[in-house]
Amino acid sequence: MTPTESPVASITPAPRERVRVFDTTLRDGEQAPGFSMTRAQKLRIAQALAELGVDIVEAGFPQASDGDFASVQAIAREIRSATICALARCQRGDIETAARALEPAVRGRIHVFIATSPLHREHKLGMSREQVVAAAVAGVRRAKELCDDVEFSAEDAMRTEPDYLAEVFSAVVEAGATTLNVPDTVGYITPAEMFERIGFLRTHVRGIERAVLSVHCHDDLGMAVANSLAAVAAGARQVECTLTGIGERAGNAALEEVAMALKTRAELFGVDTGLRTPRLYPAARLLAQLTGQPIPRNKAVVGDNAFAHESGIHQHGMLKHRGTYEIMRPEDVGFARSQLVLGKHSGRHALRERLASLGHTPDEAALDQIFTRFKSLADKKREVFDSDLEALALGRDAEAQGPWRIVHLHAASHLGGSASASVRLQREDGVMASEAAIGDGPVDATLRAIGRAVGQDFELVDFQIRALSEGGDAQGQATLGVRHAGRELHGRGVSTDIVEAAALAALEIANRIERSKPDKAARAAANHA
Ligand code: KIV
Ligand code: ZN
Repeated sequence: MTPTESPVASITPAPRERVRVFDTTLRDGEQAPGFSMTRAQKLRIAQALAELGVDIVEAGFPQASDGDFASVQAIAREIRSATICALARCQRGDIETAARALEPAVRGRIHVFIATSPLHREHKLGMSREQVVAAAVAGVRRAKELCDDVEFSAEDAMRTEPDYLAEVFSAVVEAGATTLNVPDTVGYITPAEMFERIGFLRTHVRGIERAVLSVHCHDDLGMAVANSLAAVAAGARQVECTLTGIGERAGNAALEEVAMALKTRAELFGVDTGLRTPRLYPAARLLAQLTGQPIPRNKAVVGDNAFAHESGIHQHGMLKHRGTYEIMRPEDVGFARSQLVLGKHSGRHALRERLASLGHTPDEAALDQIFTRFKSLADKKREVFDSDLEALALGRDAEAQGPWRIVHLHAASHLGGSASASVRLQREDGVMASEAAIGDGPVDATLRAIGRAVGQDFELVDFQIRALSEGGDAQGQATLGVRHAGRELHGRGVSTDIVEAAALAALEIANRIERSKPDKAARAAANHA
């Protein structure tokens, strides 16, 4: 060895252990009020998750409804790179339905769960400890007959007696479970306790070496991410999370925060996820656009302020060395720095590039349509922002289309009096419907007129308007929630005119209702078959 050769330089660093990322945005996340999605929207999110490189996409709970079944099946058919998971209670019917929904998947996983804590055993299930173990084992065995990859969750694990939890897990590993999930269902635990509990399970569950230990944290006390990280530090090798932390009550652990904590502090955790982190921001934006629920500005990693430096001292430091106030690089999370993007002279190529950086990769035909609409928007607005482009890209969502379209809309209001609106709609079979209504303001009048024209009765439960960008010519996004036939449906519309935005949102809902009606022609054909 010459004096210049370093013995250290020739040593390749040991590969870090892999932590699997299990995303439940489409199951635990979608369950939260205000976040329900259509099948087409779920498919788009699943595609974004696959591009992000998550290992497992939990696509839904097929036994819960026909819609959930169809969504899981569609995702299992379309997404080839990730494992697709379906949730089931420890009941034969649930498990068999989950297996059927997963049939088209390249790699499917059945996720069975049962509550194990004393509170749940006694008050919810009315079952003894022994009965819960027997149900868990029977559920895992049935799932294993239908699918190799079986996850078992002990609901409310963190309020379960540790010895008993270890006994349940030992029994389900023996029955064939390959992942053991430890949910903090009610967001009760603290990081120190989580660290201790995972360590306990690693030493007390028989056969633990044959399974991956997983963690699933809720955020009721704001500790879901900290608890997930504590579990990883203690040896958990799967983390369950959702984009931007959406989920039941206060939500689940936020995927982007877990991912960036493990990456930024890799020297501490010594693990890798397989995520392509520059896809984090586009995926989070897509979710916000599809659900109409904006990401809070101060949200860690993907909020608009996450990389903004306002104070003079900070800006001065940043100019000298980025590391003074930035622990992650915006490009590592795919953060789109520039907000001002294109104008009316911008071309198709620039539009395609910018859409790609926002997570949208339309095919040629879709790009043509977006480009046409972009040009007409650029004529109305001086500056076209990222959020405008996202709205244009999402406007072509198949679920947002026909059969009804607006041909004419007129709304008027005057101070101190009621407002009126008239609409003319056309259905794809050529039928025209014209109606007028008065209401409390032009938006209300317009919604009433649309409801009458399509013959649907909406009860408005949520209505929000927000500007998508800055300036007097900003586009407004209207999000409507209506109750119809016992279900809550959401629609979204975007326009530089807020009454038109609200009308488009109402139309999206009306179209969804119309499309879900049994097809008369198909029914007639079935009757004659
Ligand atoms: O929070 C929870 O306990 C769950 C389980 C079904 C995993 O979501
Ligand atoms: Zn949960």
